[in-house]
Amino acid sequence: MKRPLNPTSRRKRPCRMPRIAAAILLTALTAIAAPKARADEGMWLPSLIGKRIDDMRAKGFRLTAEDIYSVNKASMKDAVVLFNGGCTGELISPEGLLVTNHHCGYGAIQGHSTVEHDYLTHGFWARDRSEELPNEGLWVRRLVRMEEVTDRLAAGETAEKICEEAAEKGRYRTAIEQMYYGNQQFLFVYEQFDDVRLVGAPPSSIGKFGGDTDNWMWPRHTGDFSLFRIYADRENRPAKFSRENVPYRPARYFPVSTKGIREGDFTMIYGFPGNTQQYVTADAVAYVVERSDPMKIDLRTRRLEIISAAQEADAAPRIRYAAKHASIANAWKKWQGELLGLQRLGTVAQKAYETAFARWAADRPEYAHLLDSLRAAYRSATEGYYLQELCNESVKGIELATLAAALKQYAAKPSEALAERIAKLYRDYDPAIDRRVAVEMLRGLEQYHPRPLPEAYTAETTRCKGVEGYAARLFDASAIVRFDAVEPLLRDTAALRAALQREPVLHLVGIFDRGRIPRNLSNLPAVERWYRPYMKALREFDRERPFYPDANLTLRVAYGQVAGYWYADAVYHRPLTTLDGIIAKDDPTVYDYDIPQRLRACHAAKDYGRWSIPTADGGVTVPVCFLATNHTTGGNSGSPVVNADGELVGINFDRTWRSTMSDLQFDPAICRNIAVDIRYVLFTIDRIGGAGHLLKEMELR
Ligand code: ARG
Ligand code: GLU
Repeated sequence: MKRPLNPTSRRKRPCRMPRIAAAILLTALTAIAAPKARADEGMWLPSLIGKRIDDMRAKGFRLTAEDIYSVNKASMKDAVVLFNGGCTGELISPEGLLVTNHHCGYGAIQGHSTVEHDYLTHGFWARDRSEELPNEGLWVRRLVRMEEVTDRLAAGETAEKICEEAAEKGRYRTAIEQMYYGNQQFLFVYEQFDDVRLVGAPPSSIGKFGGDTDNWMWPRHTGDFSLFRIYADRENRPAKFSRENVPYRPARYFPVSTKGIREGDFTMIYGFPGNTQQYVTADAVAYVVERSDPMKIDLRTRRLEIISAAQEADAAPRIRYAAKHASIANAWKKWQGELLGLQRLGTVAQKAYETAFARWAADRPEYAHLLDSLRAAYRSATEGYYLQELCNESVKGIELATLAAALKQYAAKPSEALAERIAKLYRDYDPAIDRRVAVEMLRGLEQYHPRPLPEAYTAETTRCKGVEGYAARLFDASAIVRFDAVEPLLRDTAALRAALQREPVLHLVGIFDRGRIPRNLSNLPAVERWYRPYMKALREFDRERPFYPDANLTLRVAYGQVAGYWYADAVYHRPLTTLDGIIAKDDPTVYDYDIPQRLRACHAAKDYGRWSIPTADGGVTVPVCFLATNHTTGGNSGSPVVNADGELVGINFDRTWRSTMSDLQFDPAICRNIAVDIRYVLFTIDRIGGAGHLLKEMELR
């Protein structure tokens, strides 16, 4: 697998700004004001979307707030689901047909793949309902309703009682979520479906086209979608898997637009963004830029170099480490983009904003101390957080530590499922690679850890005459490196516990691990208490600014428009890619760019049927992906991208890498989400999958 190195991945200068970025800095700085209301920024609560609807309509939206969210009638929210706890999906037919990303359905597709039926490689298309494949453990959740309960809680009602009442005797799942750092609480009521079957998936050479090379990049050409169907009982209620179940009839589904999109068109994204930290102070941003991101990127660069080298040398690790490599590289690349973006923006504007706030707060006793308190808290709190992050990226970057943790969990509570997971971890494990990683991770740990190092640690390195010796001992004195040794222990948990008592890697983890890491930089123990009053104060201070709560995996609306952006001086990135771009990248010798023969043949014959669009030079092509200005984050994968009339025009799956700074600061000049054009999805189903029958149940417009 060829892996062109990313421009910033050079080891020596992991966080230097390339020239291009420096050039953009100049252009962009002029476009950035203090963190005031910015076009297209925001992830809005659906039940409060009425407050944004005038702005949305001014930007082209033609529907109403009630069309987006309503408790009285079917609305768009009924067509959106949380897909398996980490992605979003949407209903696209009256018979429960659901679409999400290929990378979200990946586990299910992989689970059904065998050597004879390799659906990951060749794709899968159920020819009729009887061929749709059930997926143990896969679930989706629809929001039934949401409601602010701040006052009820303040009046003394308990969260348990509110939830129990809303659950309607176990019919629904409920949760109370904090918004604005606990200034407001919302009840969420969900209906969960557990019979979700695989209907279709393109071959990975379409669904994952470009692989890690193109990940977080534009121009992009990935057909990142897969199809599922929700099944329910005969009363249309959720039910465990059963052959008796019938396709779910949703209250709403998205009509699918075949008209396409153009630059400037209104877009809205409805989905479940996972985690952002939009209101943290300049000190927190500085921590990310100066300490956290550079350390994490460097340690992952070193880990990836070792894994990639092994993969290039040998076929076995290439396959065994493919998924691990992809997941290590995904965040690694994201942080690099985030760092570039944040460096470019700087904290100058933010500091000016905070100074203005401090001036405003000075004669308000309840707020006057807040920024000072936060600053002081950060001075001490970031140190502990940094050590936790360092432990995660170094010590826990050693796979042996992951294996040990899983075995420890098993020893405490053995289960069939966990044994299976452990066996799988070992199938994909190569101790020779891990030994090399361990040496590098200990070196990294020493390099980034403040002095003095913990005594328990230096005792080990002294005894073993250095990090190489210590790393070797982690393996040589271990009882869990090989599965043949572990397997009998899985049947004898007393012996397993005894073995783990002596396990050197657990001793190492024990020296550095401090338990669960806070969710983000506003949740550090010493800091957290100040954010609630700070947020309250900010909203009084800056009445013009439209505040929205941080993403927390609750349903949100983001709106914006289809738009390209200035990538560098004189280089404009247009917002739509086409099949011609896929053909230009096509290379059978490069794994990430080797497309299916059928797609080549389609292109050679220009056989696009109704999916063809004209090119500038009088030819025809097929649209593939597009860029828009919607504010999204992880969890928005698979989210519907709809046009001004609420019709599905795309499926969200990524951002450009420098956009990832929007998790802390949204910069309208460069922040863009990436969607697969729904016309490419339809083309692939129809022309590549030969599953045109699925189109018949959709409402194509
Ligand atoms: N960057 C996207 C996300 O954060 C896609 C990841 C999956 N694709 C990949 N090539 N690893 O989830
Ligand atoms: N691929 C991401 C996901 O799984 C979406 C990209 C982003 O972070 O915006 O949700």
